[in-house]
Amino acid sequence: MISSERIPNNVDLHCNKRLQRALEHWQPRYLDWWHEMGPQGFQHYHQVYLRTAISVDADGWCHYDYVKMPEYGWGIFLANPVQDRTIGFGDFFGTRVWQEVPGEFRQPLKRLIVLQGDTEPASVEQQRLLGKSCPSLYDLRNLFQVNVEEGRHLWAMVYLLHTYFGRDGRDEAEEMLDRSSGDADKPRMLEAFNSPIDNWLDFFMFAMFTDRDGKSQLMSLSESALDPLSRTTRFMLTEEAHHLFVGESGISRILQRTCELMKSHGAGLSGDVRRVGGIDLPMIQRHLNHWFSESVDLHGSEVSSNAATYFGNGLKGRAREDTFDEHRALHQSYQVTAFDAGGFDTRTVPLRNAMNEVLRDWYIGDCEAGIARWNRILEKNGVGERLFAPSRRFNRKIGIYAPYHFDPQGQPLTAEQWAAHRHEWLPTDDDRAYLASLMASPVWEPGKFANWIAPPLRGINRQPIDFEYVRTDN
Ligand SMILES: [Fe+2]
Ligand SMILES: [Fe+2]
Repeated sequence: MISSERIPNNVDLHCNKRLQRALEHWQPRYLDWWHEMGPQGFQHYHQVYLRTAISVDADGWCHYDYVKMPEYGWGIFLANPVQDRTIGFGDFFGTRVWQEVPGEFRQPLKRLIVLQGDTEPASVEQQRLLGKSCPSLYDLRNLFQVNVEEGRHLWAMVYLLHTYFGRDGRDEAEEMLDRSSGDADKPRMLEAFNSPIDNWLDFFMFAMFTDRDGKSQLMSLSESALDPLSRTTRFMLTEEAHHLFVGESGISRILQRTCELMKSHGAGLSGDVRRVGGIDLPMIQRHLNHWFSESVDLHGSEVSSNAATYFGNGLKGRAREDTFDEHRALHQSYQVTAFDAGGFDTRTVPLRNAMNEVLRDWYIGDCEAGIARWNRILEKNGVGERLFAPSRRFNRKIGIYAPYHFDPQGQPLTAEQWAAHRHEWLPTDDDRAYLASLMASPVWEPGKFANWIAPPLRGINRQPIDFEYVRTDN
């Protein structure tokens, strides 16, 4: 990388003047977007202790320093090429990967990249007000780390659009900055990215479940026959791991604190924890249910001809494709549990058409492992309650279960039953009001934490927990 370049990169941008000019033209528009739609109130006077990607070497891919967010070094980094890489699945299995976009797959590849790209700035927009209610400087820094890296992920997708999709790609890159989360006329493309995230319980759940959908999608795109897409997404996964850590450890620390409050104040039942300013387990479960089901939806319909075409054409594979025995998936099938007025019914679907469901299986397994780690905290603290992942049928808005209602165990309900119990299973206005009051005053003092969350086990980059992770610049 040449650090003096305006756009840090490992793609020899200086050798491609046309591309360099196009991206330098996009850069000020991106910065305008960041100023307007990025973290509110922390743009000009705050120095944040952030990591910045500077290369893709396993040892030393990033460096840490104080930086004002608008001056962050958003760059373009592709994982190193795999020598003689061949296509790992679908009809072109075993042939050489593509360094250019084949004309016949131009539209679907562009669509996949635009869909992925659109979620990146969307999450920054959703979280832009959160800094004002942060539980500590450590958490504030983590929020901003996630935000600047989602910004870099947008750069990653915009690089692909500019480099491989000509005029169309440049237009799409512009539109990434025109749409915005929750906008009445030009909303973000996926519904889950259109409502604000205005409390930290939602934020941590989002980072746990929705960023993990990001991980699913990036893993399947990193299998792609389009090698630059594969290399770009492989490096994004390196950054994504920290986002998942922020989510999982954030909830772990809330659980730890809830257990402490239950014990020390004699608030024996978790429901009583609210009296002493904590977050009770049923409320945590309701938020888990919401973000889990919303993220399960992001994997798309159970039976999908698009998914079959993406797989057949080598555009989007399965997570960890190399762990499967057979990579064409032409003759196998998949059992989908369908539901209609007559009840449940098992349908056998050609495997390629069930690729969304295959990816969803991987996703749910990954979530369940995380929830099991959360439950160990409850167990260690001698608390009998447990968290759980609701059924994949619960609260769906996309796919075969969407027209019906199911309880968190996956049992069908009438519309009346659903209406009568919904408030037990999903966040309520009362939850939102309670969380807003709990988080009304931010904690700015280094080493101090809001009452509802325990400190982390260790600091960032071996810094102490009471390190000044965000400082005002006077
Ligand atoms: Fe991302
Ligand atoms: Fe992320």
